[in-house]
Amino acid sequence: MTTDKKQILFNAFGMNCVGHINHGLWTHPRDQSHLYTTLPYWTSLARTLERGLFDGLFLADIIGVYDVYGGSADLTLREAIQLPVNDPAMLISAMAAVTENLGFGVTANQSAEAPYLFARRFSTLDHLTQGRIGWNIVTGYLDSAARALGDTGLSEHDSRYDRADDYMEVLYKLWEGSWADNAVRRDKAARIYADPARVRPIAHDGPYYRSHGIHLAEPSRQRTPLLYQAGTSGRGRAFAARHGECIFITATSPPAARKTARQLRQEAADAGRGADALRIFVGITIVTGETDAIAREKHADYLAHANPEAGLAHFSASTGIDFAQYDLDAPITYGVSNASQSAVEVARAAGWTRRRILEEAALGGRYPVLVGTGAEVATALGQWVEEGEIDGFNITRTVVPESYEDVIDHIVPVLQERGLYKTAYGEGSFRNRLFGRGDRLPDTHVGASHRWPSAT
Ligand SMILES: Cc1cc2nc3c(=O)[nH]c(=O)nc-3n(C[C@H](O)[C@H](O)[C@H](O)COP(=O)(O)O)c2cc1C
Repeated sequence: MTTDKKQILFNAFGMNCVGHINHGLWTHPRDQSHLYTTLPYWTSLARTLERGLFDGLFLADIIGVYDVYGGSADLTLREAIQLPVNDPAMLISAMAAVTENLGFGVTANQSAEAPYLFARRFSTLDHLTQGRIGWNIVTGYLDSAARALGDTGLSEHDSRYDRADDYMEVLYKLWEGSWADNAVRRDKAARIYADPARVRPIAHDGPYYRSHGIHLAEPSRQRTPLLYQAGTSGRGRAFAARHGECIFITATSPPAARKTARQLRQEAADAGRGADALRIFVGITIVTGETDAIAREKHADYLAHANPEAGLAHFSASTGIDFAQYDLDAPITYGVSNASQSAVEVARAAGWTRRRILEEAALGGRYPVLVGTGAEVATALGQWVEEGEIDGFNITRTVVPESYEDVIDHIVPVLQERGLYKTAYGEGSFRNRLFGRGDRLPDTHVGASHRWPSAT
């Protein structure tokens, strides 16, 4: 069906671990998330998502542990709250091999690895997926990660973004400027694989990073992977407006989403990137079934397996606040956080007590929950997009793979009938499918200024 209506974008929101957002549901008899260490779990999931024409699988990641709640990782371990957690990037090749169209958004904390090595890993993934790789740039919020990586603690909030700006510049130079488009000749008769005159070392001496060298990988389809960003503090938004193409936000309601979306789009426009520079995704949880009664029964069943306290422990780590120290109804002191300021802002603005957060996390996580038939949920999603001025959703998992299958079987067909969801994949790379403007970064993006031959 051809339609002029705005198409709603869907990412499945997952993580290479057992308990991701909706904590406790790993105990549900039908949940398969404990199989995350096996390839068939992931290849089967990728095929399922492609059947539902999902735009992407978005994989979160952390490189520390949640030890803020009660000052220990005990509950984290008992409930598998994002621990144990395996490397998300390792999953991509297997899933790419069994799909043709699904995109992959991989979260990676830029502070963990030298940019030179990181650039090669993501070029490799872009090659192996034929341009279906995205990177969710995060700056980290866990003191435990900083300590584990050899620092004394998490560095100051805004300085993490300053450092990330510098990191990005190294990457753009490597991805966009080290190899000319026609550097690779692959000419067997002339014995020239790559033309030395069309390849050059980058030279970067920034405030945080130095790198002098030739990018190890030859140019891939997208060169720079599709850039996701999450984190909407003031400094986070400035970073998003400069680098992000897809922005992952949290919002408790469509008006809240609209406020953040407008801010982000305005800041991107102010940065000279045009009015249509961003695709904005809201995190959401969906419980659906053939009838309203079945959906509600399913929701009640899920609630019985969820663990709100585990959701609270997760939120403690996100905000850096040990909620275990507070009585259920005591007012909470929300100071300036060095963890995720956007997460703290939501709680401060709503005046959440510990009891309130536990109620919010009834399903084990804090994302808005839509329960109902495919038609009902499709209507609600349409409202979020219209009123919230967003482009799509990162859909959390509840019982895996059931919750993804339910969305595909009950919601996707309704959205398609209403002309709000594609009936076939578009052409080209992950970037082109979402923006329709080619495989490479647009000229207005800061990374494009480092293209050969203008790069230094
Ligand atoms: C919706 C959302 C998802 C995020 N996912 C991750 C993640 O998977 N891994 C991670 O290390 N940080 C993640 N973050 C943290 C941010 O990228 C950022 O480092 C942190 O929120 C601090 O930024 P802020 O104060 O600007 O929000 C996420 C943040 C948000 C809002």
